[in-house]
Amino acid sequence: MTNKSLAKRPEDTCVLVTGGAGFIGSHTCVELLAEGYRVIVLDDLSNSSKEAVRRVRRIAGAGGERCAFVEGSILDRDLLGRVFAENDVDAIIHFAGFKAVGESVEKPLEYYWNNVAGTLVLCDVARAHGVKNVVFSSSATVYGEPEFVPITEDCPKHAPTNPYGQTKSMLEQVLSDLYAGDGEWNVVLLRYFNPIGAHPSGLIGEDPKGIPNNLVPYVAQVAVGKLAAVGVFGDDYPTPDGTGVRDYIHVVDLARGHVAALRWMGGKVGTGEPRGLGSVAGEPAPDGTRRGVGIFNLGTGRGSSVLEVIAAFSRACGRELPYVIKPRRAGDIAVNYAACDKARDELGWVAEYDLDRMCEDSWRWQSMNPDGYAS
Ligand code: NAD
Ligand code: UD1
Repeated sequence: MTNKSLAKRPEDTCVLVTGGAGFIGSHTCVELLAEGYRVIVLDDLSNSSKEAVRRVRRIAGAGGERCAFVEGSILDRDLLGRVFAENDVDAIIHFAGFKAVGESVEKPLEYYWNNVAGTLVLCDVARAHGVKNVVFSSSATVYGEPEFVPITEDCPKHAPTNPYGQTKSMLEQVLSDLYAGDGEWNVVLLRYFNPIGAHPSGLIGEDPKGIPNNLVPYVAQVAVGKLAAVGVFGDDYPTPDGTGVRDYIHVVDLARGHVAALRWMGGKVGTGEPRGLGSVAGEPAPDGTRRGVGIFNLGTGRGSSVLEVIAAFSRACGRELPYVIKPRRAGDIAVNYAACDKARDELGWVAEYDLDRMCEDSWRWQSMNPDGYAS
């Protein structure tokens, strides 16, 4: 079956957003709706809340007609069949999956099953309905210990040290192989660096269950008084202040990167020729639609240390946040930041917001919703 063409107006394009109630998914829905796309959120709410979808609708001024919600799993073949049969889906932005690194070590079967088997079921059902346009949430974790920084897309991949990272690497391979076997597939792999921040309205943001594993959600809970002090995992790295350096990116910038990827797949943007850095292909088909596998880093190109993040958050919330130096966390690397030239040249996308703005928006979300969506 031929693939659906994306060479049309956003108003005529329906995007299935798996995991659309989650942190990055909800922000992406807001940006898609702002551009005129119709959205169907499919989420099993295993790590999110229906309230997030309500708030997305509120921000976007959209009802269930333009922003539909289906509660269920990408593993549910029958449900997926109904979603595709009842809606004229053109493309999929695939966020659904489990994402906690430590938990993936404890529960590898659950992670491989949900992330890998779930994606296989999703692609199989989508293909049966002639939908082969997929944007996939990958991660900088596929570079492992990077061979160089800033990391370009042709930096060699290294085996991730945990099952979560393995699922990302494996799924990049699966999606690339789909295109290799059938040139109708149109795939974009977006390798996110460290998404933080929240929508400037303070209505949607990251809502981790239990004690956060990631730095900024942890800092935010110290700021709001739920946790006592930030533990800084190591101050003896070969970096200017000894703490780990990462490329933090505002989630709204990241969300806009997905809209840019969809436009690119429709063949309407991009100044340069596809450079093939890590991409299998990318030549536009006769209808203008890009076919192939486009691989893009989404980051800011700027690294910030743990202490810089704590300082920026302290400015945002108006008080010095306490921290204590702890031993290094197993599996952490010293420095990790992206080269984002490829996304700029081909997708016409660059991140706009700086670390201060990320922390301000994170703080607004956290202080307006101290208990997340349960507040
Ligand atoms: P999130 O947990 O907030 O969102 C994922 C969503 O998927 C949740 O709403 C969850 O309920 C849903 N989900 C999980 N399994 C599902 C299933 N079987 N069927 C339907 N829905 C399911 O996470 P996020 O931070 O928004 O991340 C989104 C994607 O981006 C994930 O694939 C994640 O691995 C990837 N990613 C995230 C980061 C990050 O730092 N947040 C970095 C790199 C990549
Ligand atoms: C982690 C995952 C990565 C995943 C990403 C998003 C690991 C090893 N890597 O990236 O695979 O894609 O989250 O989910 O888990 N830090 C502290 N104190 C804290 C928490 C973190 O000092 O309480 C430090 C870390 O050592 C690191 C930096 O802050 O230097 C960022 O950590 P984190 O937010 O967990 O992201 P990553 O480790 O980059």
